[in-house]
Amino acid sequence: MTDVTRRLFMQAAGVSAVAVTHSARPARAAGAGLEGVVRVIASGNGAAATKKAWELIQEGADPLDAVVAGVAIVEDDPRDTSVGYGGLPNERGIVELDAAVMHGPTHKAGGVASLQNIRHPAQVALKVLQRSDHVLLVGAGALDFAKAHGFQEENLLTDHSRRIWLRWKETMSDRDDWLPDPAEAEPPVAEFFQKNSVRIAETGLLRFRRPTGTIHCSAINAKSSMSCTTTTSGMAFKIPGRVGDSPIIGAGLYVDNEVGSCGSTGRGEANLQNLSSFAGVELMRNGASPEDAGMEILRRIAKTTEPRLRDAQGRPDFNINFYLMAKDGRYAGVTMFGDADFAVTDEKGTRLEKCRPLFGKG
Ligand code: GLY
Repeated sequence: MTDVTRRLFMQAAGVSAVAVTHSARPARAAGAGLEGVVRVIASGNGAAATKKAWELIQEGADPLDAVVAGVAIVEDDPRDTSVGYGGLPNERGIVELDAAVMHGPTHKAGGVASLQNIRHPAQVALKVLQRSDHVLLVGAGALDFAKAHGFQEENLLTDHSRRIWLRWKETMSDRDDWLPDPAEAEPPVAEFFQKNSVRIAETGLLRFRRPTGTIHCSAINAKSSMSCTTTTSGMAFKIPGRVGDSPIIGAGLYVDNEVGSCGSTGRGEANLQNLSSFAGVELMRNGASPEDAGMEILRRIAKTTEPRLRDAQGRPDFNINFYLMAKDGRYAGVTMFGDADFAVTDEKGTRLEKCRPLFGKG
């Protein structure tokens, strides 16, 4: 999200500029443990979600219902091209969504993967948890299940996302029959490619890095009940049927009501290979603070990344972020690279805080 779109998003979400502060210090000391704390954390695109979820919890909602209602704001937002309606499509131009939910008090979970035409996959995942004997439904079966529960089908591809996809398709190879418009890409499309490109040190050339956005949201209520959800359109222009980490319990999210929660955004393949969110909760179970647990997951990913996905310094050439909250309310956001935010709502209001990076720059 650019600063401008973030600002618009905040305005749309009713989050005041005063309330949204960028903490100057890293998240390492964030969230002193508090009995009875009500707190919601999310990825940096989730300030509206944390605010909504926190308000619902204050009104008595279960934290799981609250986070699912919170992320629906982002699933509905066409400006967020990483989630729900307006999400970037697969390589054939079809939007395929992944989501999961996990409920701390019952340890139950639900998920959907490669779901087409339904804009609120987290709500379908919640139905899987509540109204099936299963944990994960995929593709046509997930769609049939959603329709059985009254979800309406619609085309999720916005014109903006279609234009980005078409530009990608027309420019990724000169060995096929798709020819790009000789004119420069229109500014919103050009901005997308610029934002998602990294400069290769050896050649000085920009290389497009496909985005893997997503929203994760975790909540704790005054009775120390925790729940979480992760919802996404997944890796842009993926092979049809590709499933990322978001709908996989233990990879893109996990909660143990006696320990804490962990969720992720970024390259899902790395989380599938490391079962990262489960690992984060287990690290906290063994005494790590949320921030130390998150940094350890990042180190494990950095260590196990295959050579094809390393930069000239040997670091992963992709980004990945974790959002962790302990049973006592302590919390942290961590990122592989650079300058990422995460969203928090608690009794101090709604704000963006800085994720602590493992490496200094993207
Ligand atoms: N983390 C989102 C994805 O890789 O699909």
